[in-house]
Amino acid sequence: MITCKGRTELLKMERATKIVQETLAECVAACRPGVTTEEIDRIAADGIRKRGGKAAFPGYRGYPKTICSSVNEEVVHGIPTTKRKLRDGDIVGLDLGAIVDGYFGDAARTAIVGEVPAAVRELVKDTWRALVAGVSAVRVGGRIGDIGAAVEAVARAKGYGVVREYVGHGIGTALHEEPQVPNYGPGGKGEIIREGMTLAIEPMFNLGTPKVRVGPDGWTVRTADGKPSAHFEHTVVATIDGPIVLGFGRFSADGLVTGVPDETEYPVPAAPPRGEPAAPGEARAFSGEGFEA
Ligand code: MF3
Ligand code: CO
Repeated sequence: MITCKGRTELLKMERATKIVQETLAECVAACRPGVTTEEIDRIAADGIRKRGGKAAFPGYRGYPKTICSSVNEEVVHGIPTTKRKLRDGDIVGLDLGAIVDGYFGDAARTAIVGEVPAAVRELVKDTWRALVAGVSAVRVGGRIGDIGAAVEAVARAKGYGVVREYVGHGIGTALHEEPQVPNYGPGGKGEIIREGMTLAIEPMFNLGTPKVRVGPDGWTVRTADGKPSAHFEHTVVATIDGPIVLGFGRFSADGLVTGVPDETEYPVPAAPPRGEPAAPGEARAFSGEGFEA
């Protein structure tokens, strides 16, 4: 069953997703050479707790950590570990969920660590553009397939592999609700999008083959050819005026702001972690200098 949410529920989802976005920003800023993914997980757990949320992922189907950290050829569901130190040239997908008053928020970003090859930076940027395109395709009276068609068009233009085995999803009082939200079309097919439907839209693009494999830990999804992969995710509500991305203050008691936040609207951590300023060119999200939406 697909549930549509009302104002009170959406305000809770806005709070949950805001906690996720603010905490994710701290995690992105911490992605510097020498930092372990375990340390990123600690920042995620502390960030959610101090903001009054509950982490959504621990225990979900036995998942052991707070955040998913997927480095380079890891597509999604990488498990943080003390053994994985980030290095200059890595990209790392960070996926985080939180619960407030029983309502879930879910979001993901791919961070760039130091100097990354231009083609990989472009992959990351294009995956973000696909997220924007997918969110922008949410229209009351439209179809779920319209979202995937918009995402897929961005990949097709650049020849990226679009992951098919993992998809976006409805979200609300559970992390995963109906419907599934694939990152491919056809448009004009699938469930009708109705007012109050809440969707987690999450493109996963590969630099090479779309094929993926699950690792021996039962979680980590990797590209079959070992080439890099990027992932971005928003939690979105369909309104009659257009899509609203949750977690950015755009769904509030004071009013609604439709459209998609640009890269300048992502939260920036109040202070750099552990008081160390990030060196220029490090610890930035994909949306560094030279970015144009
Ligand atoms: N945000 C992801 C998803 O929607 C990750 C959840 S997997 C978990 O599927 F097990 F880590 F929770
Ligand atoms: Co999700």
